[in-house]
Amino acid sequence: MNPRDVVVGLDVGRSGVKLAFFFNGEVKTHFIPSVVSPAKQLTFDANPSSTKENTVVIDGQSYFVGETAIQQGANQTVGLSSEWLKGVEHRALLERSKTLLKSYGVVPRLIVAGLPVNTFNSSLELLYEQVESVFKCNVQPVPQPWGVFQDCLLNDDGRYKSNQTTTAFEKFAVIDVGHFTTDILLMNNFQWIEESSGSSIGMYKAVMELQHQLQIKGITATVIECQEIMQTCKIKEFGQYTDVSDLVKKSIPMTVNGVVQEVKNLIGNQARTIDHIIIAGGGSKPVFDELSQLWKQCSLAENPRFSVSLGMRKFGLVQALNDPDLLK
Ligand SMILES: Nc1ncnc2c1ncn2[C@@H]1O[C@H](COP(=O)(O)OP(=O)(O)OP(=O)(O)O)[C@@H](O)[C@H]1O
Ligand SMILES: [Mg+2]
Repeated sequence: MNPRDVVVGLDVGRSGVKLAFFFNGEVKTHFIPSVVSPAKQLTFDANPSSTKENTVVIDGQSYFVGETAIQQGANQTVGLSSEWLKGVEHRALLERSKTLLKSYGVVPRLIVAGLPVNTFNSSLELLYEQVESVFKCNVQPVPQPWGVFQDCLLNDDGRYKSNQTTTAFEKFAVIDVGHFTTDILLMNNFQWIEESSGSSIGMYKAVMELQHQLQIKGITATVIECQEIMQTCKIKEFGQYTDVSDLVKKSIPMTVNGVVQEVKNLIGNQARTIDHIIIAGGGSKPVFDELSQLWKQCSLAENPRFSVSLGMRKFGLVQALNDPDLLK
């Protein structure tokens, strides 16, 4: 068994599940919107195979997941609380991830999965149990930004990048700007500096502000639509797209100001000594725009939204190459 075929990075985020796995000679990423709703019988189903794929059964109850849940009228992503690992939504997303991987012929033997930095210790066991019970394989939980750090250092084969001008023993800060949380990790000489690591608010605050700004203009949009608008700066109205970049711009500080403040609190007094500040996650661009004005060693991750999952897979490969028993 080749480790690369059975090691998977699984980043179950509040806005979407990001998967990284090996398929057909290359590393593939896949996104599943984190939307779950009770399934219903469709009177006329124009796309039965997609509905079937996106339906999972948890404790005897059927749920629509991802695109099907959105199409069938779900109007929000999974709940915003630290308790969500215990809920049915998280399990449904894991089940869907499993069937999705299976459709590519991937049956994982080692899954690297992540948690926000501030709930890492308290949720570790629960995450392990949940993922293990669905996938029946080895599970390695890591703090989410750890994935970005590994993504930056390693190539797709789990070895140090050969053209690397940086080394793991430098001082790295990682900022992962997600939907629910922004996670900050400081590494020095390959040691996690817990005191300077933590979590702050995610992009959901900006998304809610955008929803409010649209409301003021008389436009009612769901949270899911608003997440999309944050990326495209366009809203579809009566078959036509309207540019709303001014409203997006107005909303972004709701998150970015808080994040910048927390980053300053955690790493500000040692910023001069940090070699690399890597910014990843769906909300990385506006945070990068602010922080790069303060500190010139800031850079955007290569593939910001998938960096956590890509790095988790790379880290899993290193583990498996060092200890083949992990794949049993
Ligand atoms: N270009 C963009 N500018 C600003 N925000 C964006 C952009 N693209 C996506 N976002 C926002 O980024 C968020 C999604 O990022 P990401 O996928 O990293 O979060 P997540 O991993 O699902 O969440 P978490 O890690 O907190 O559980 C959404 O709130 C979305 O609105
Ligand atoms: Mg995330």
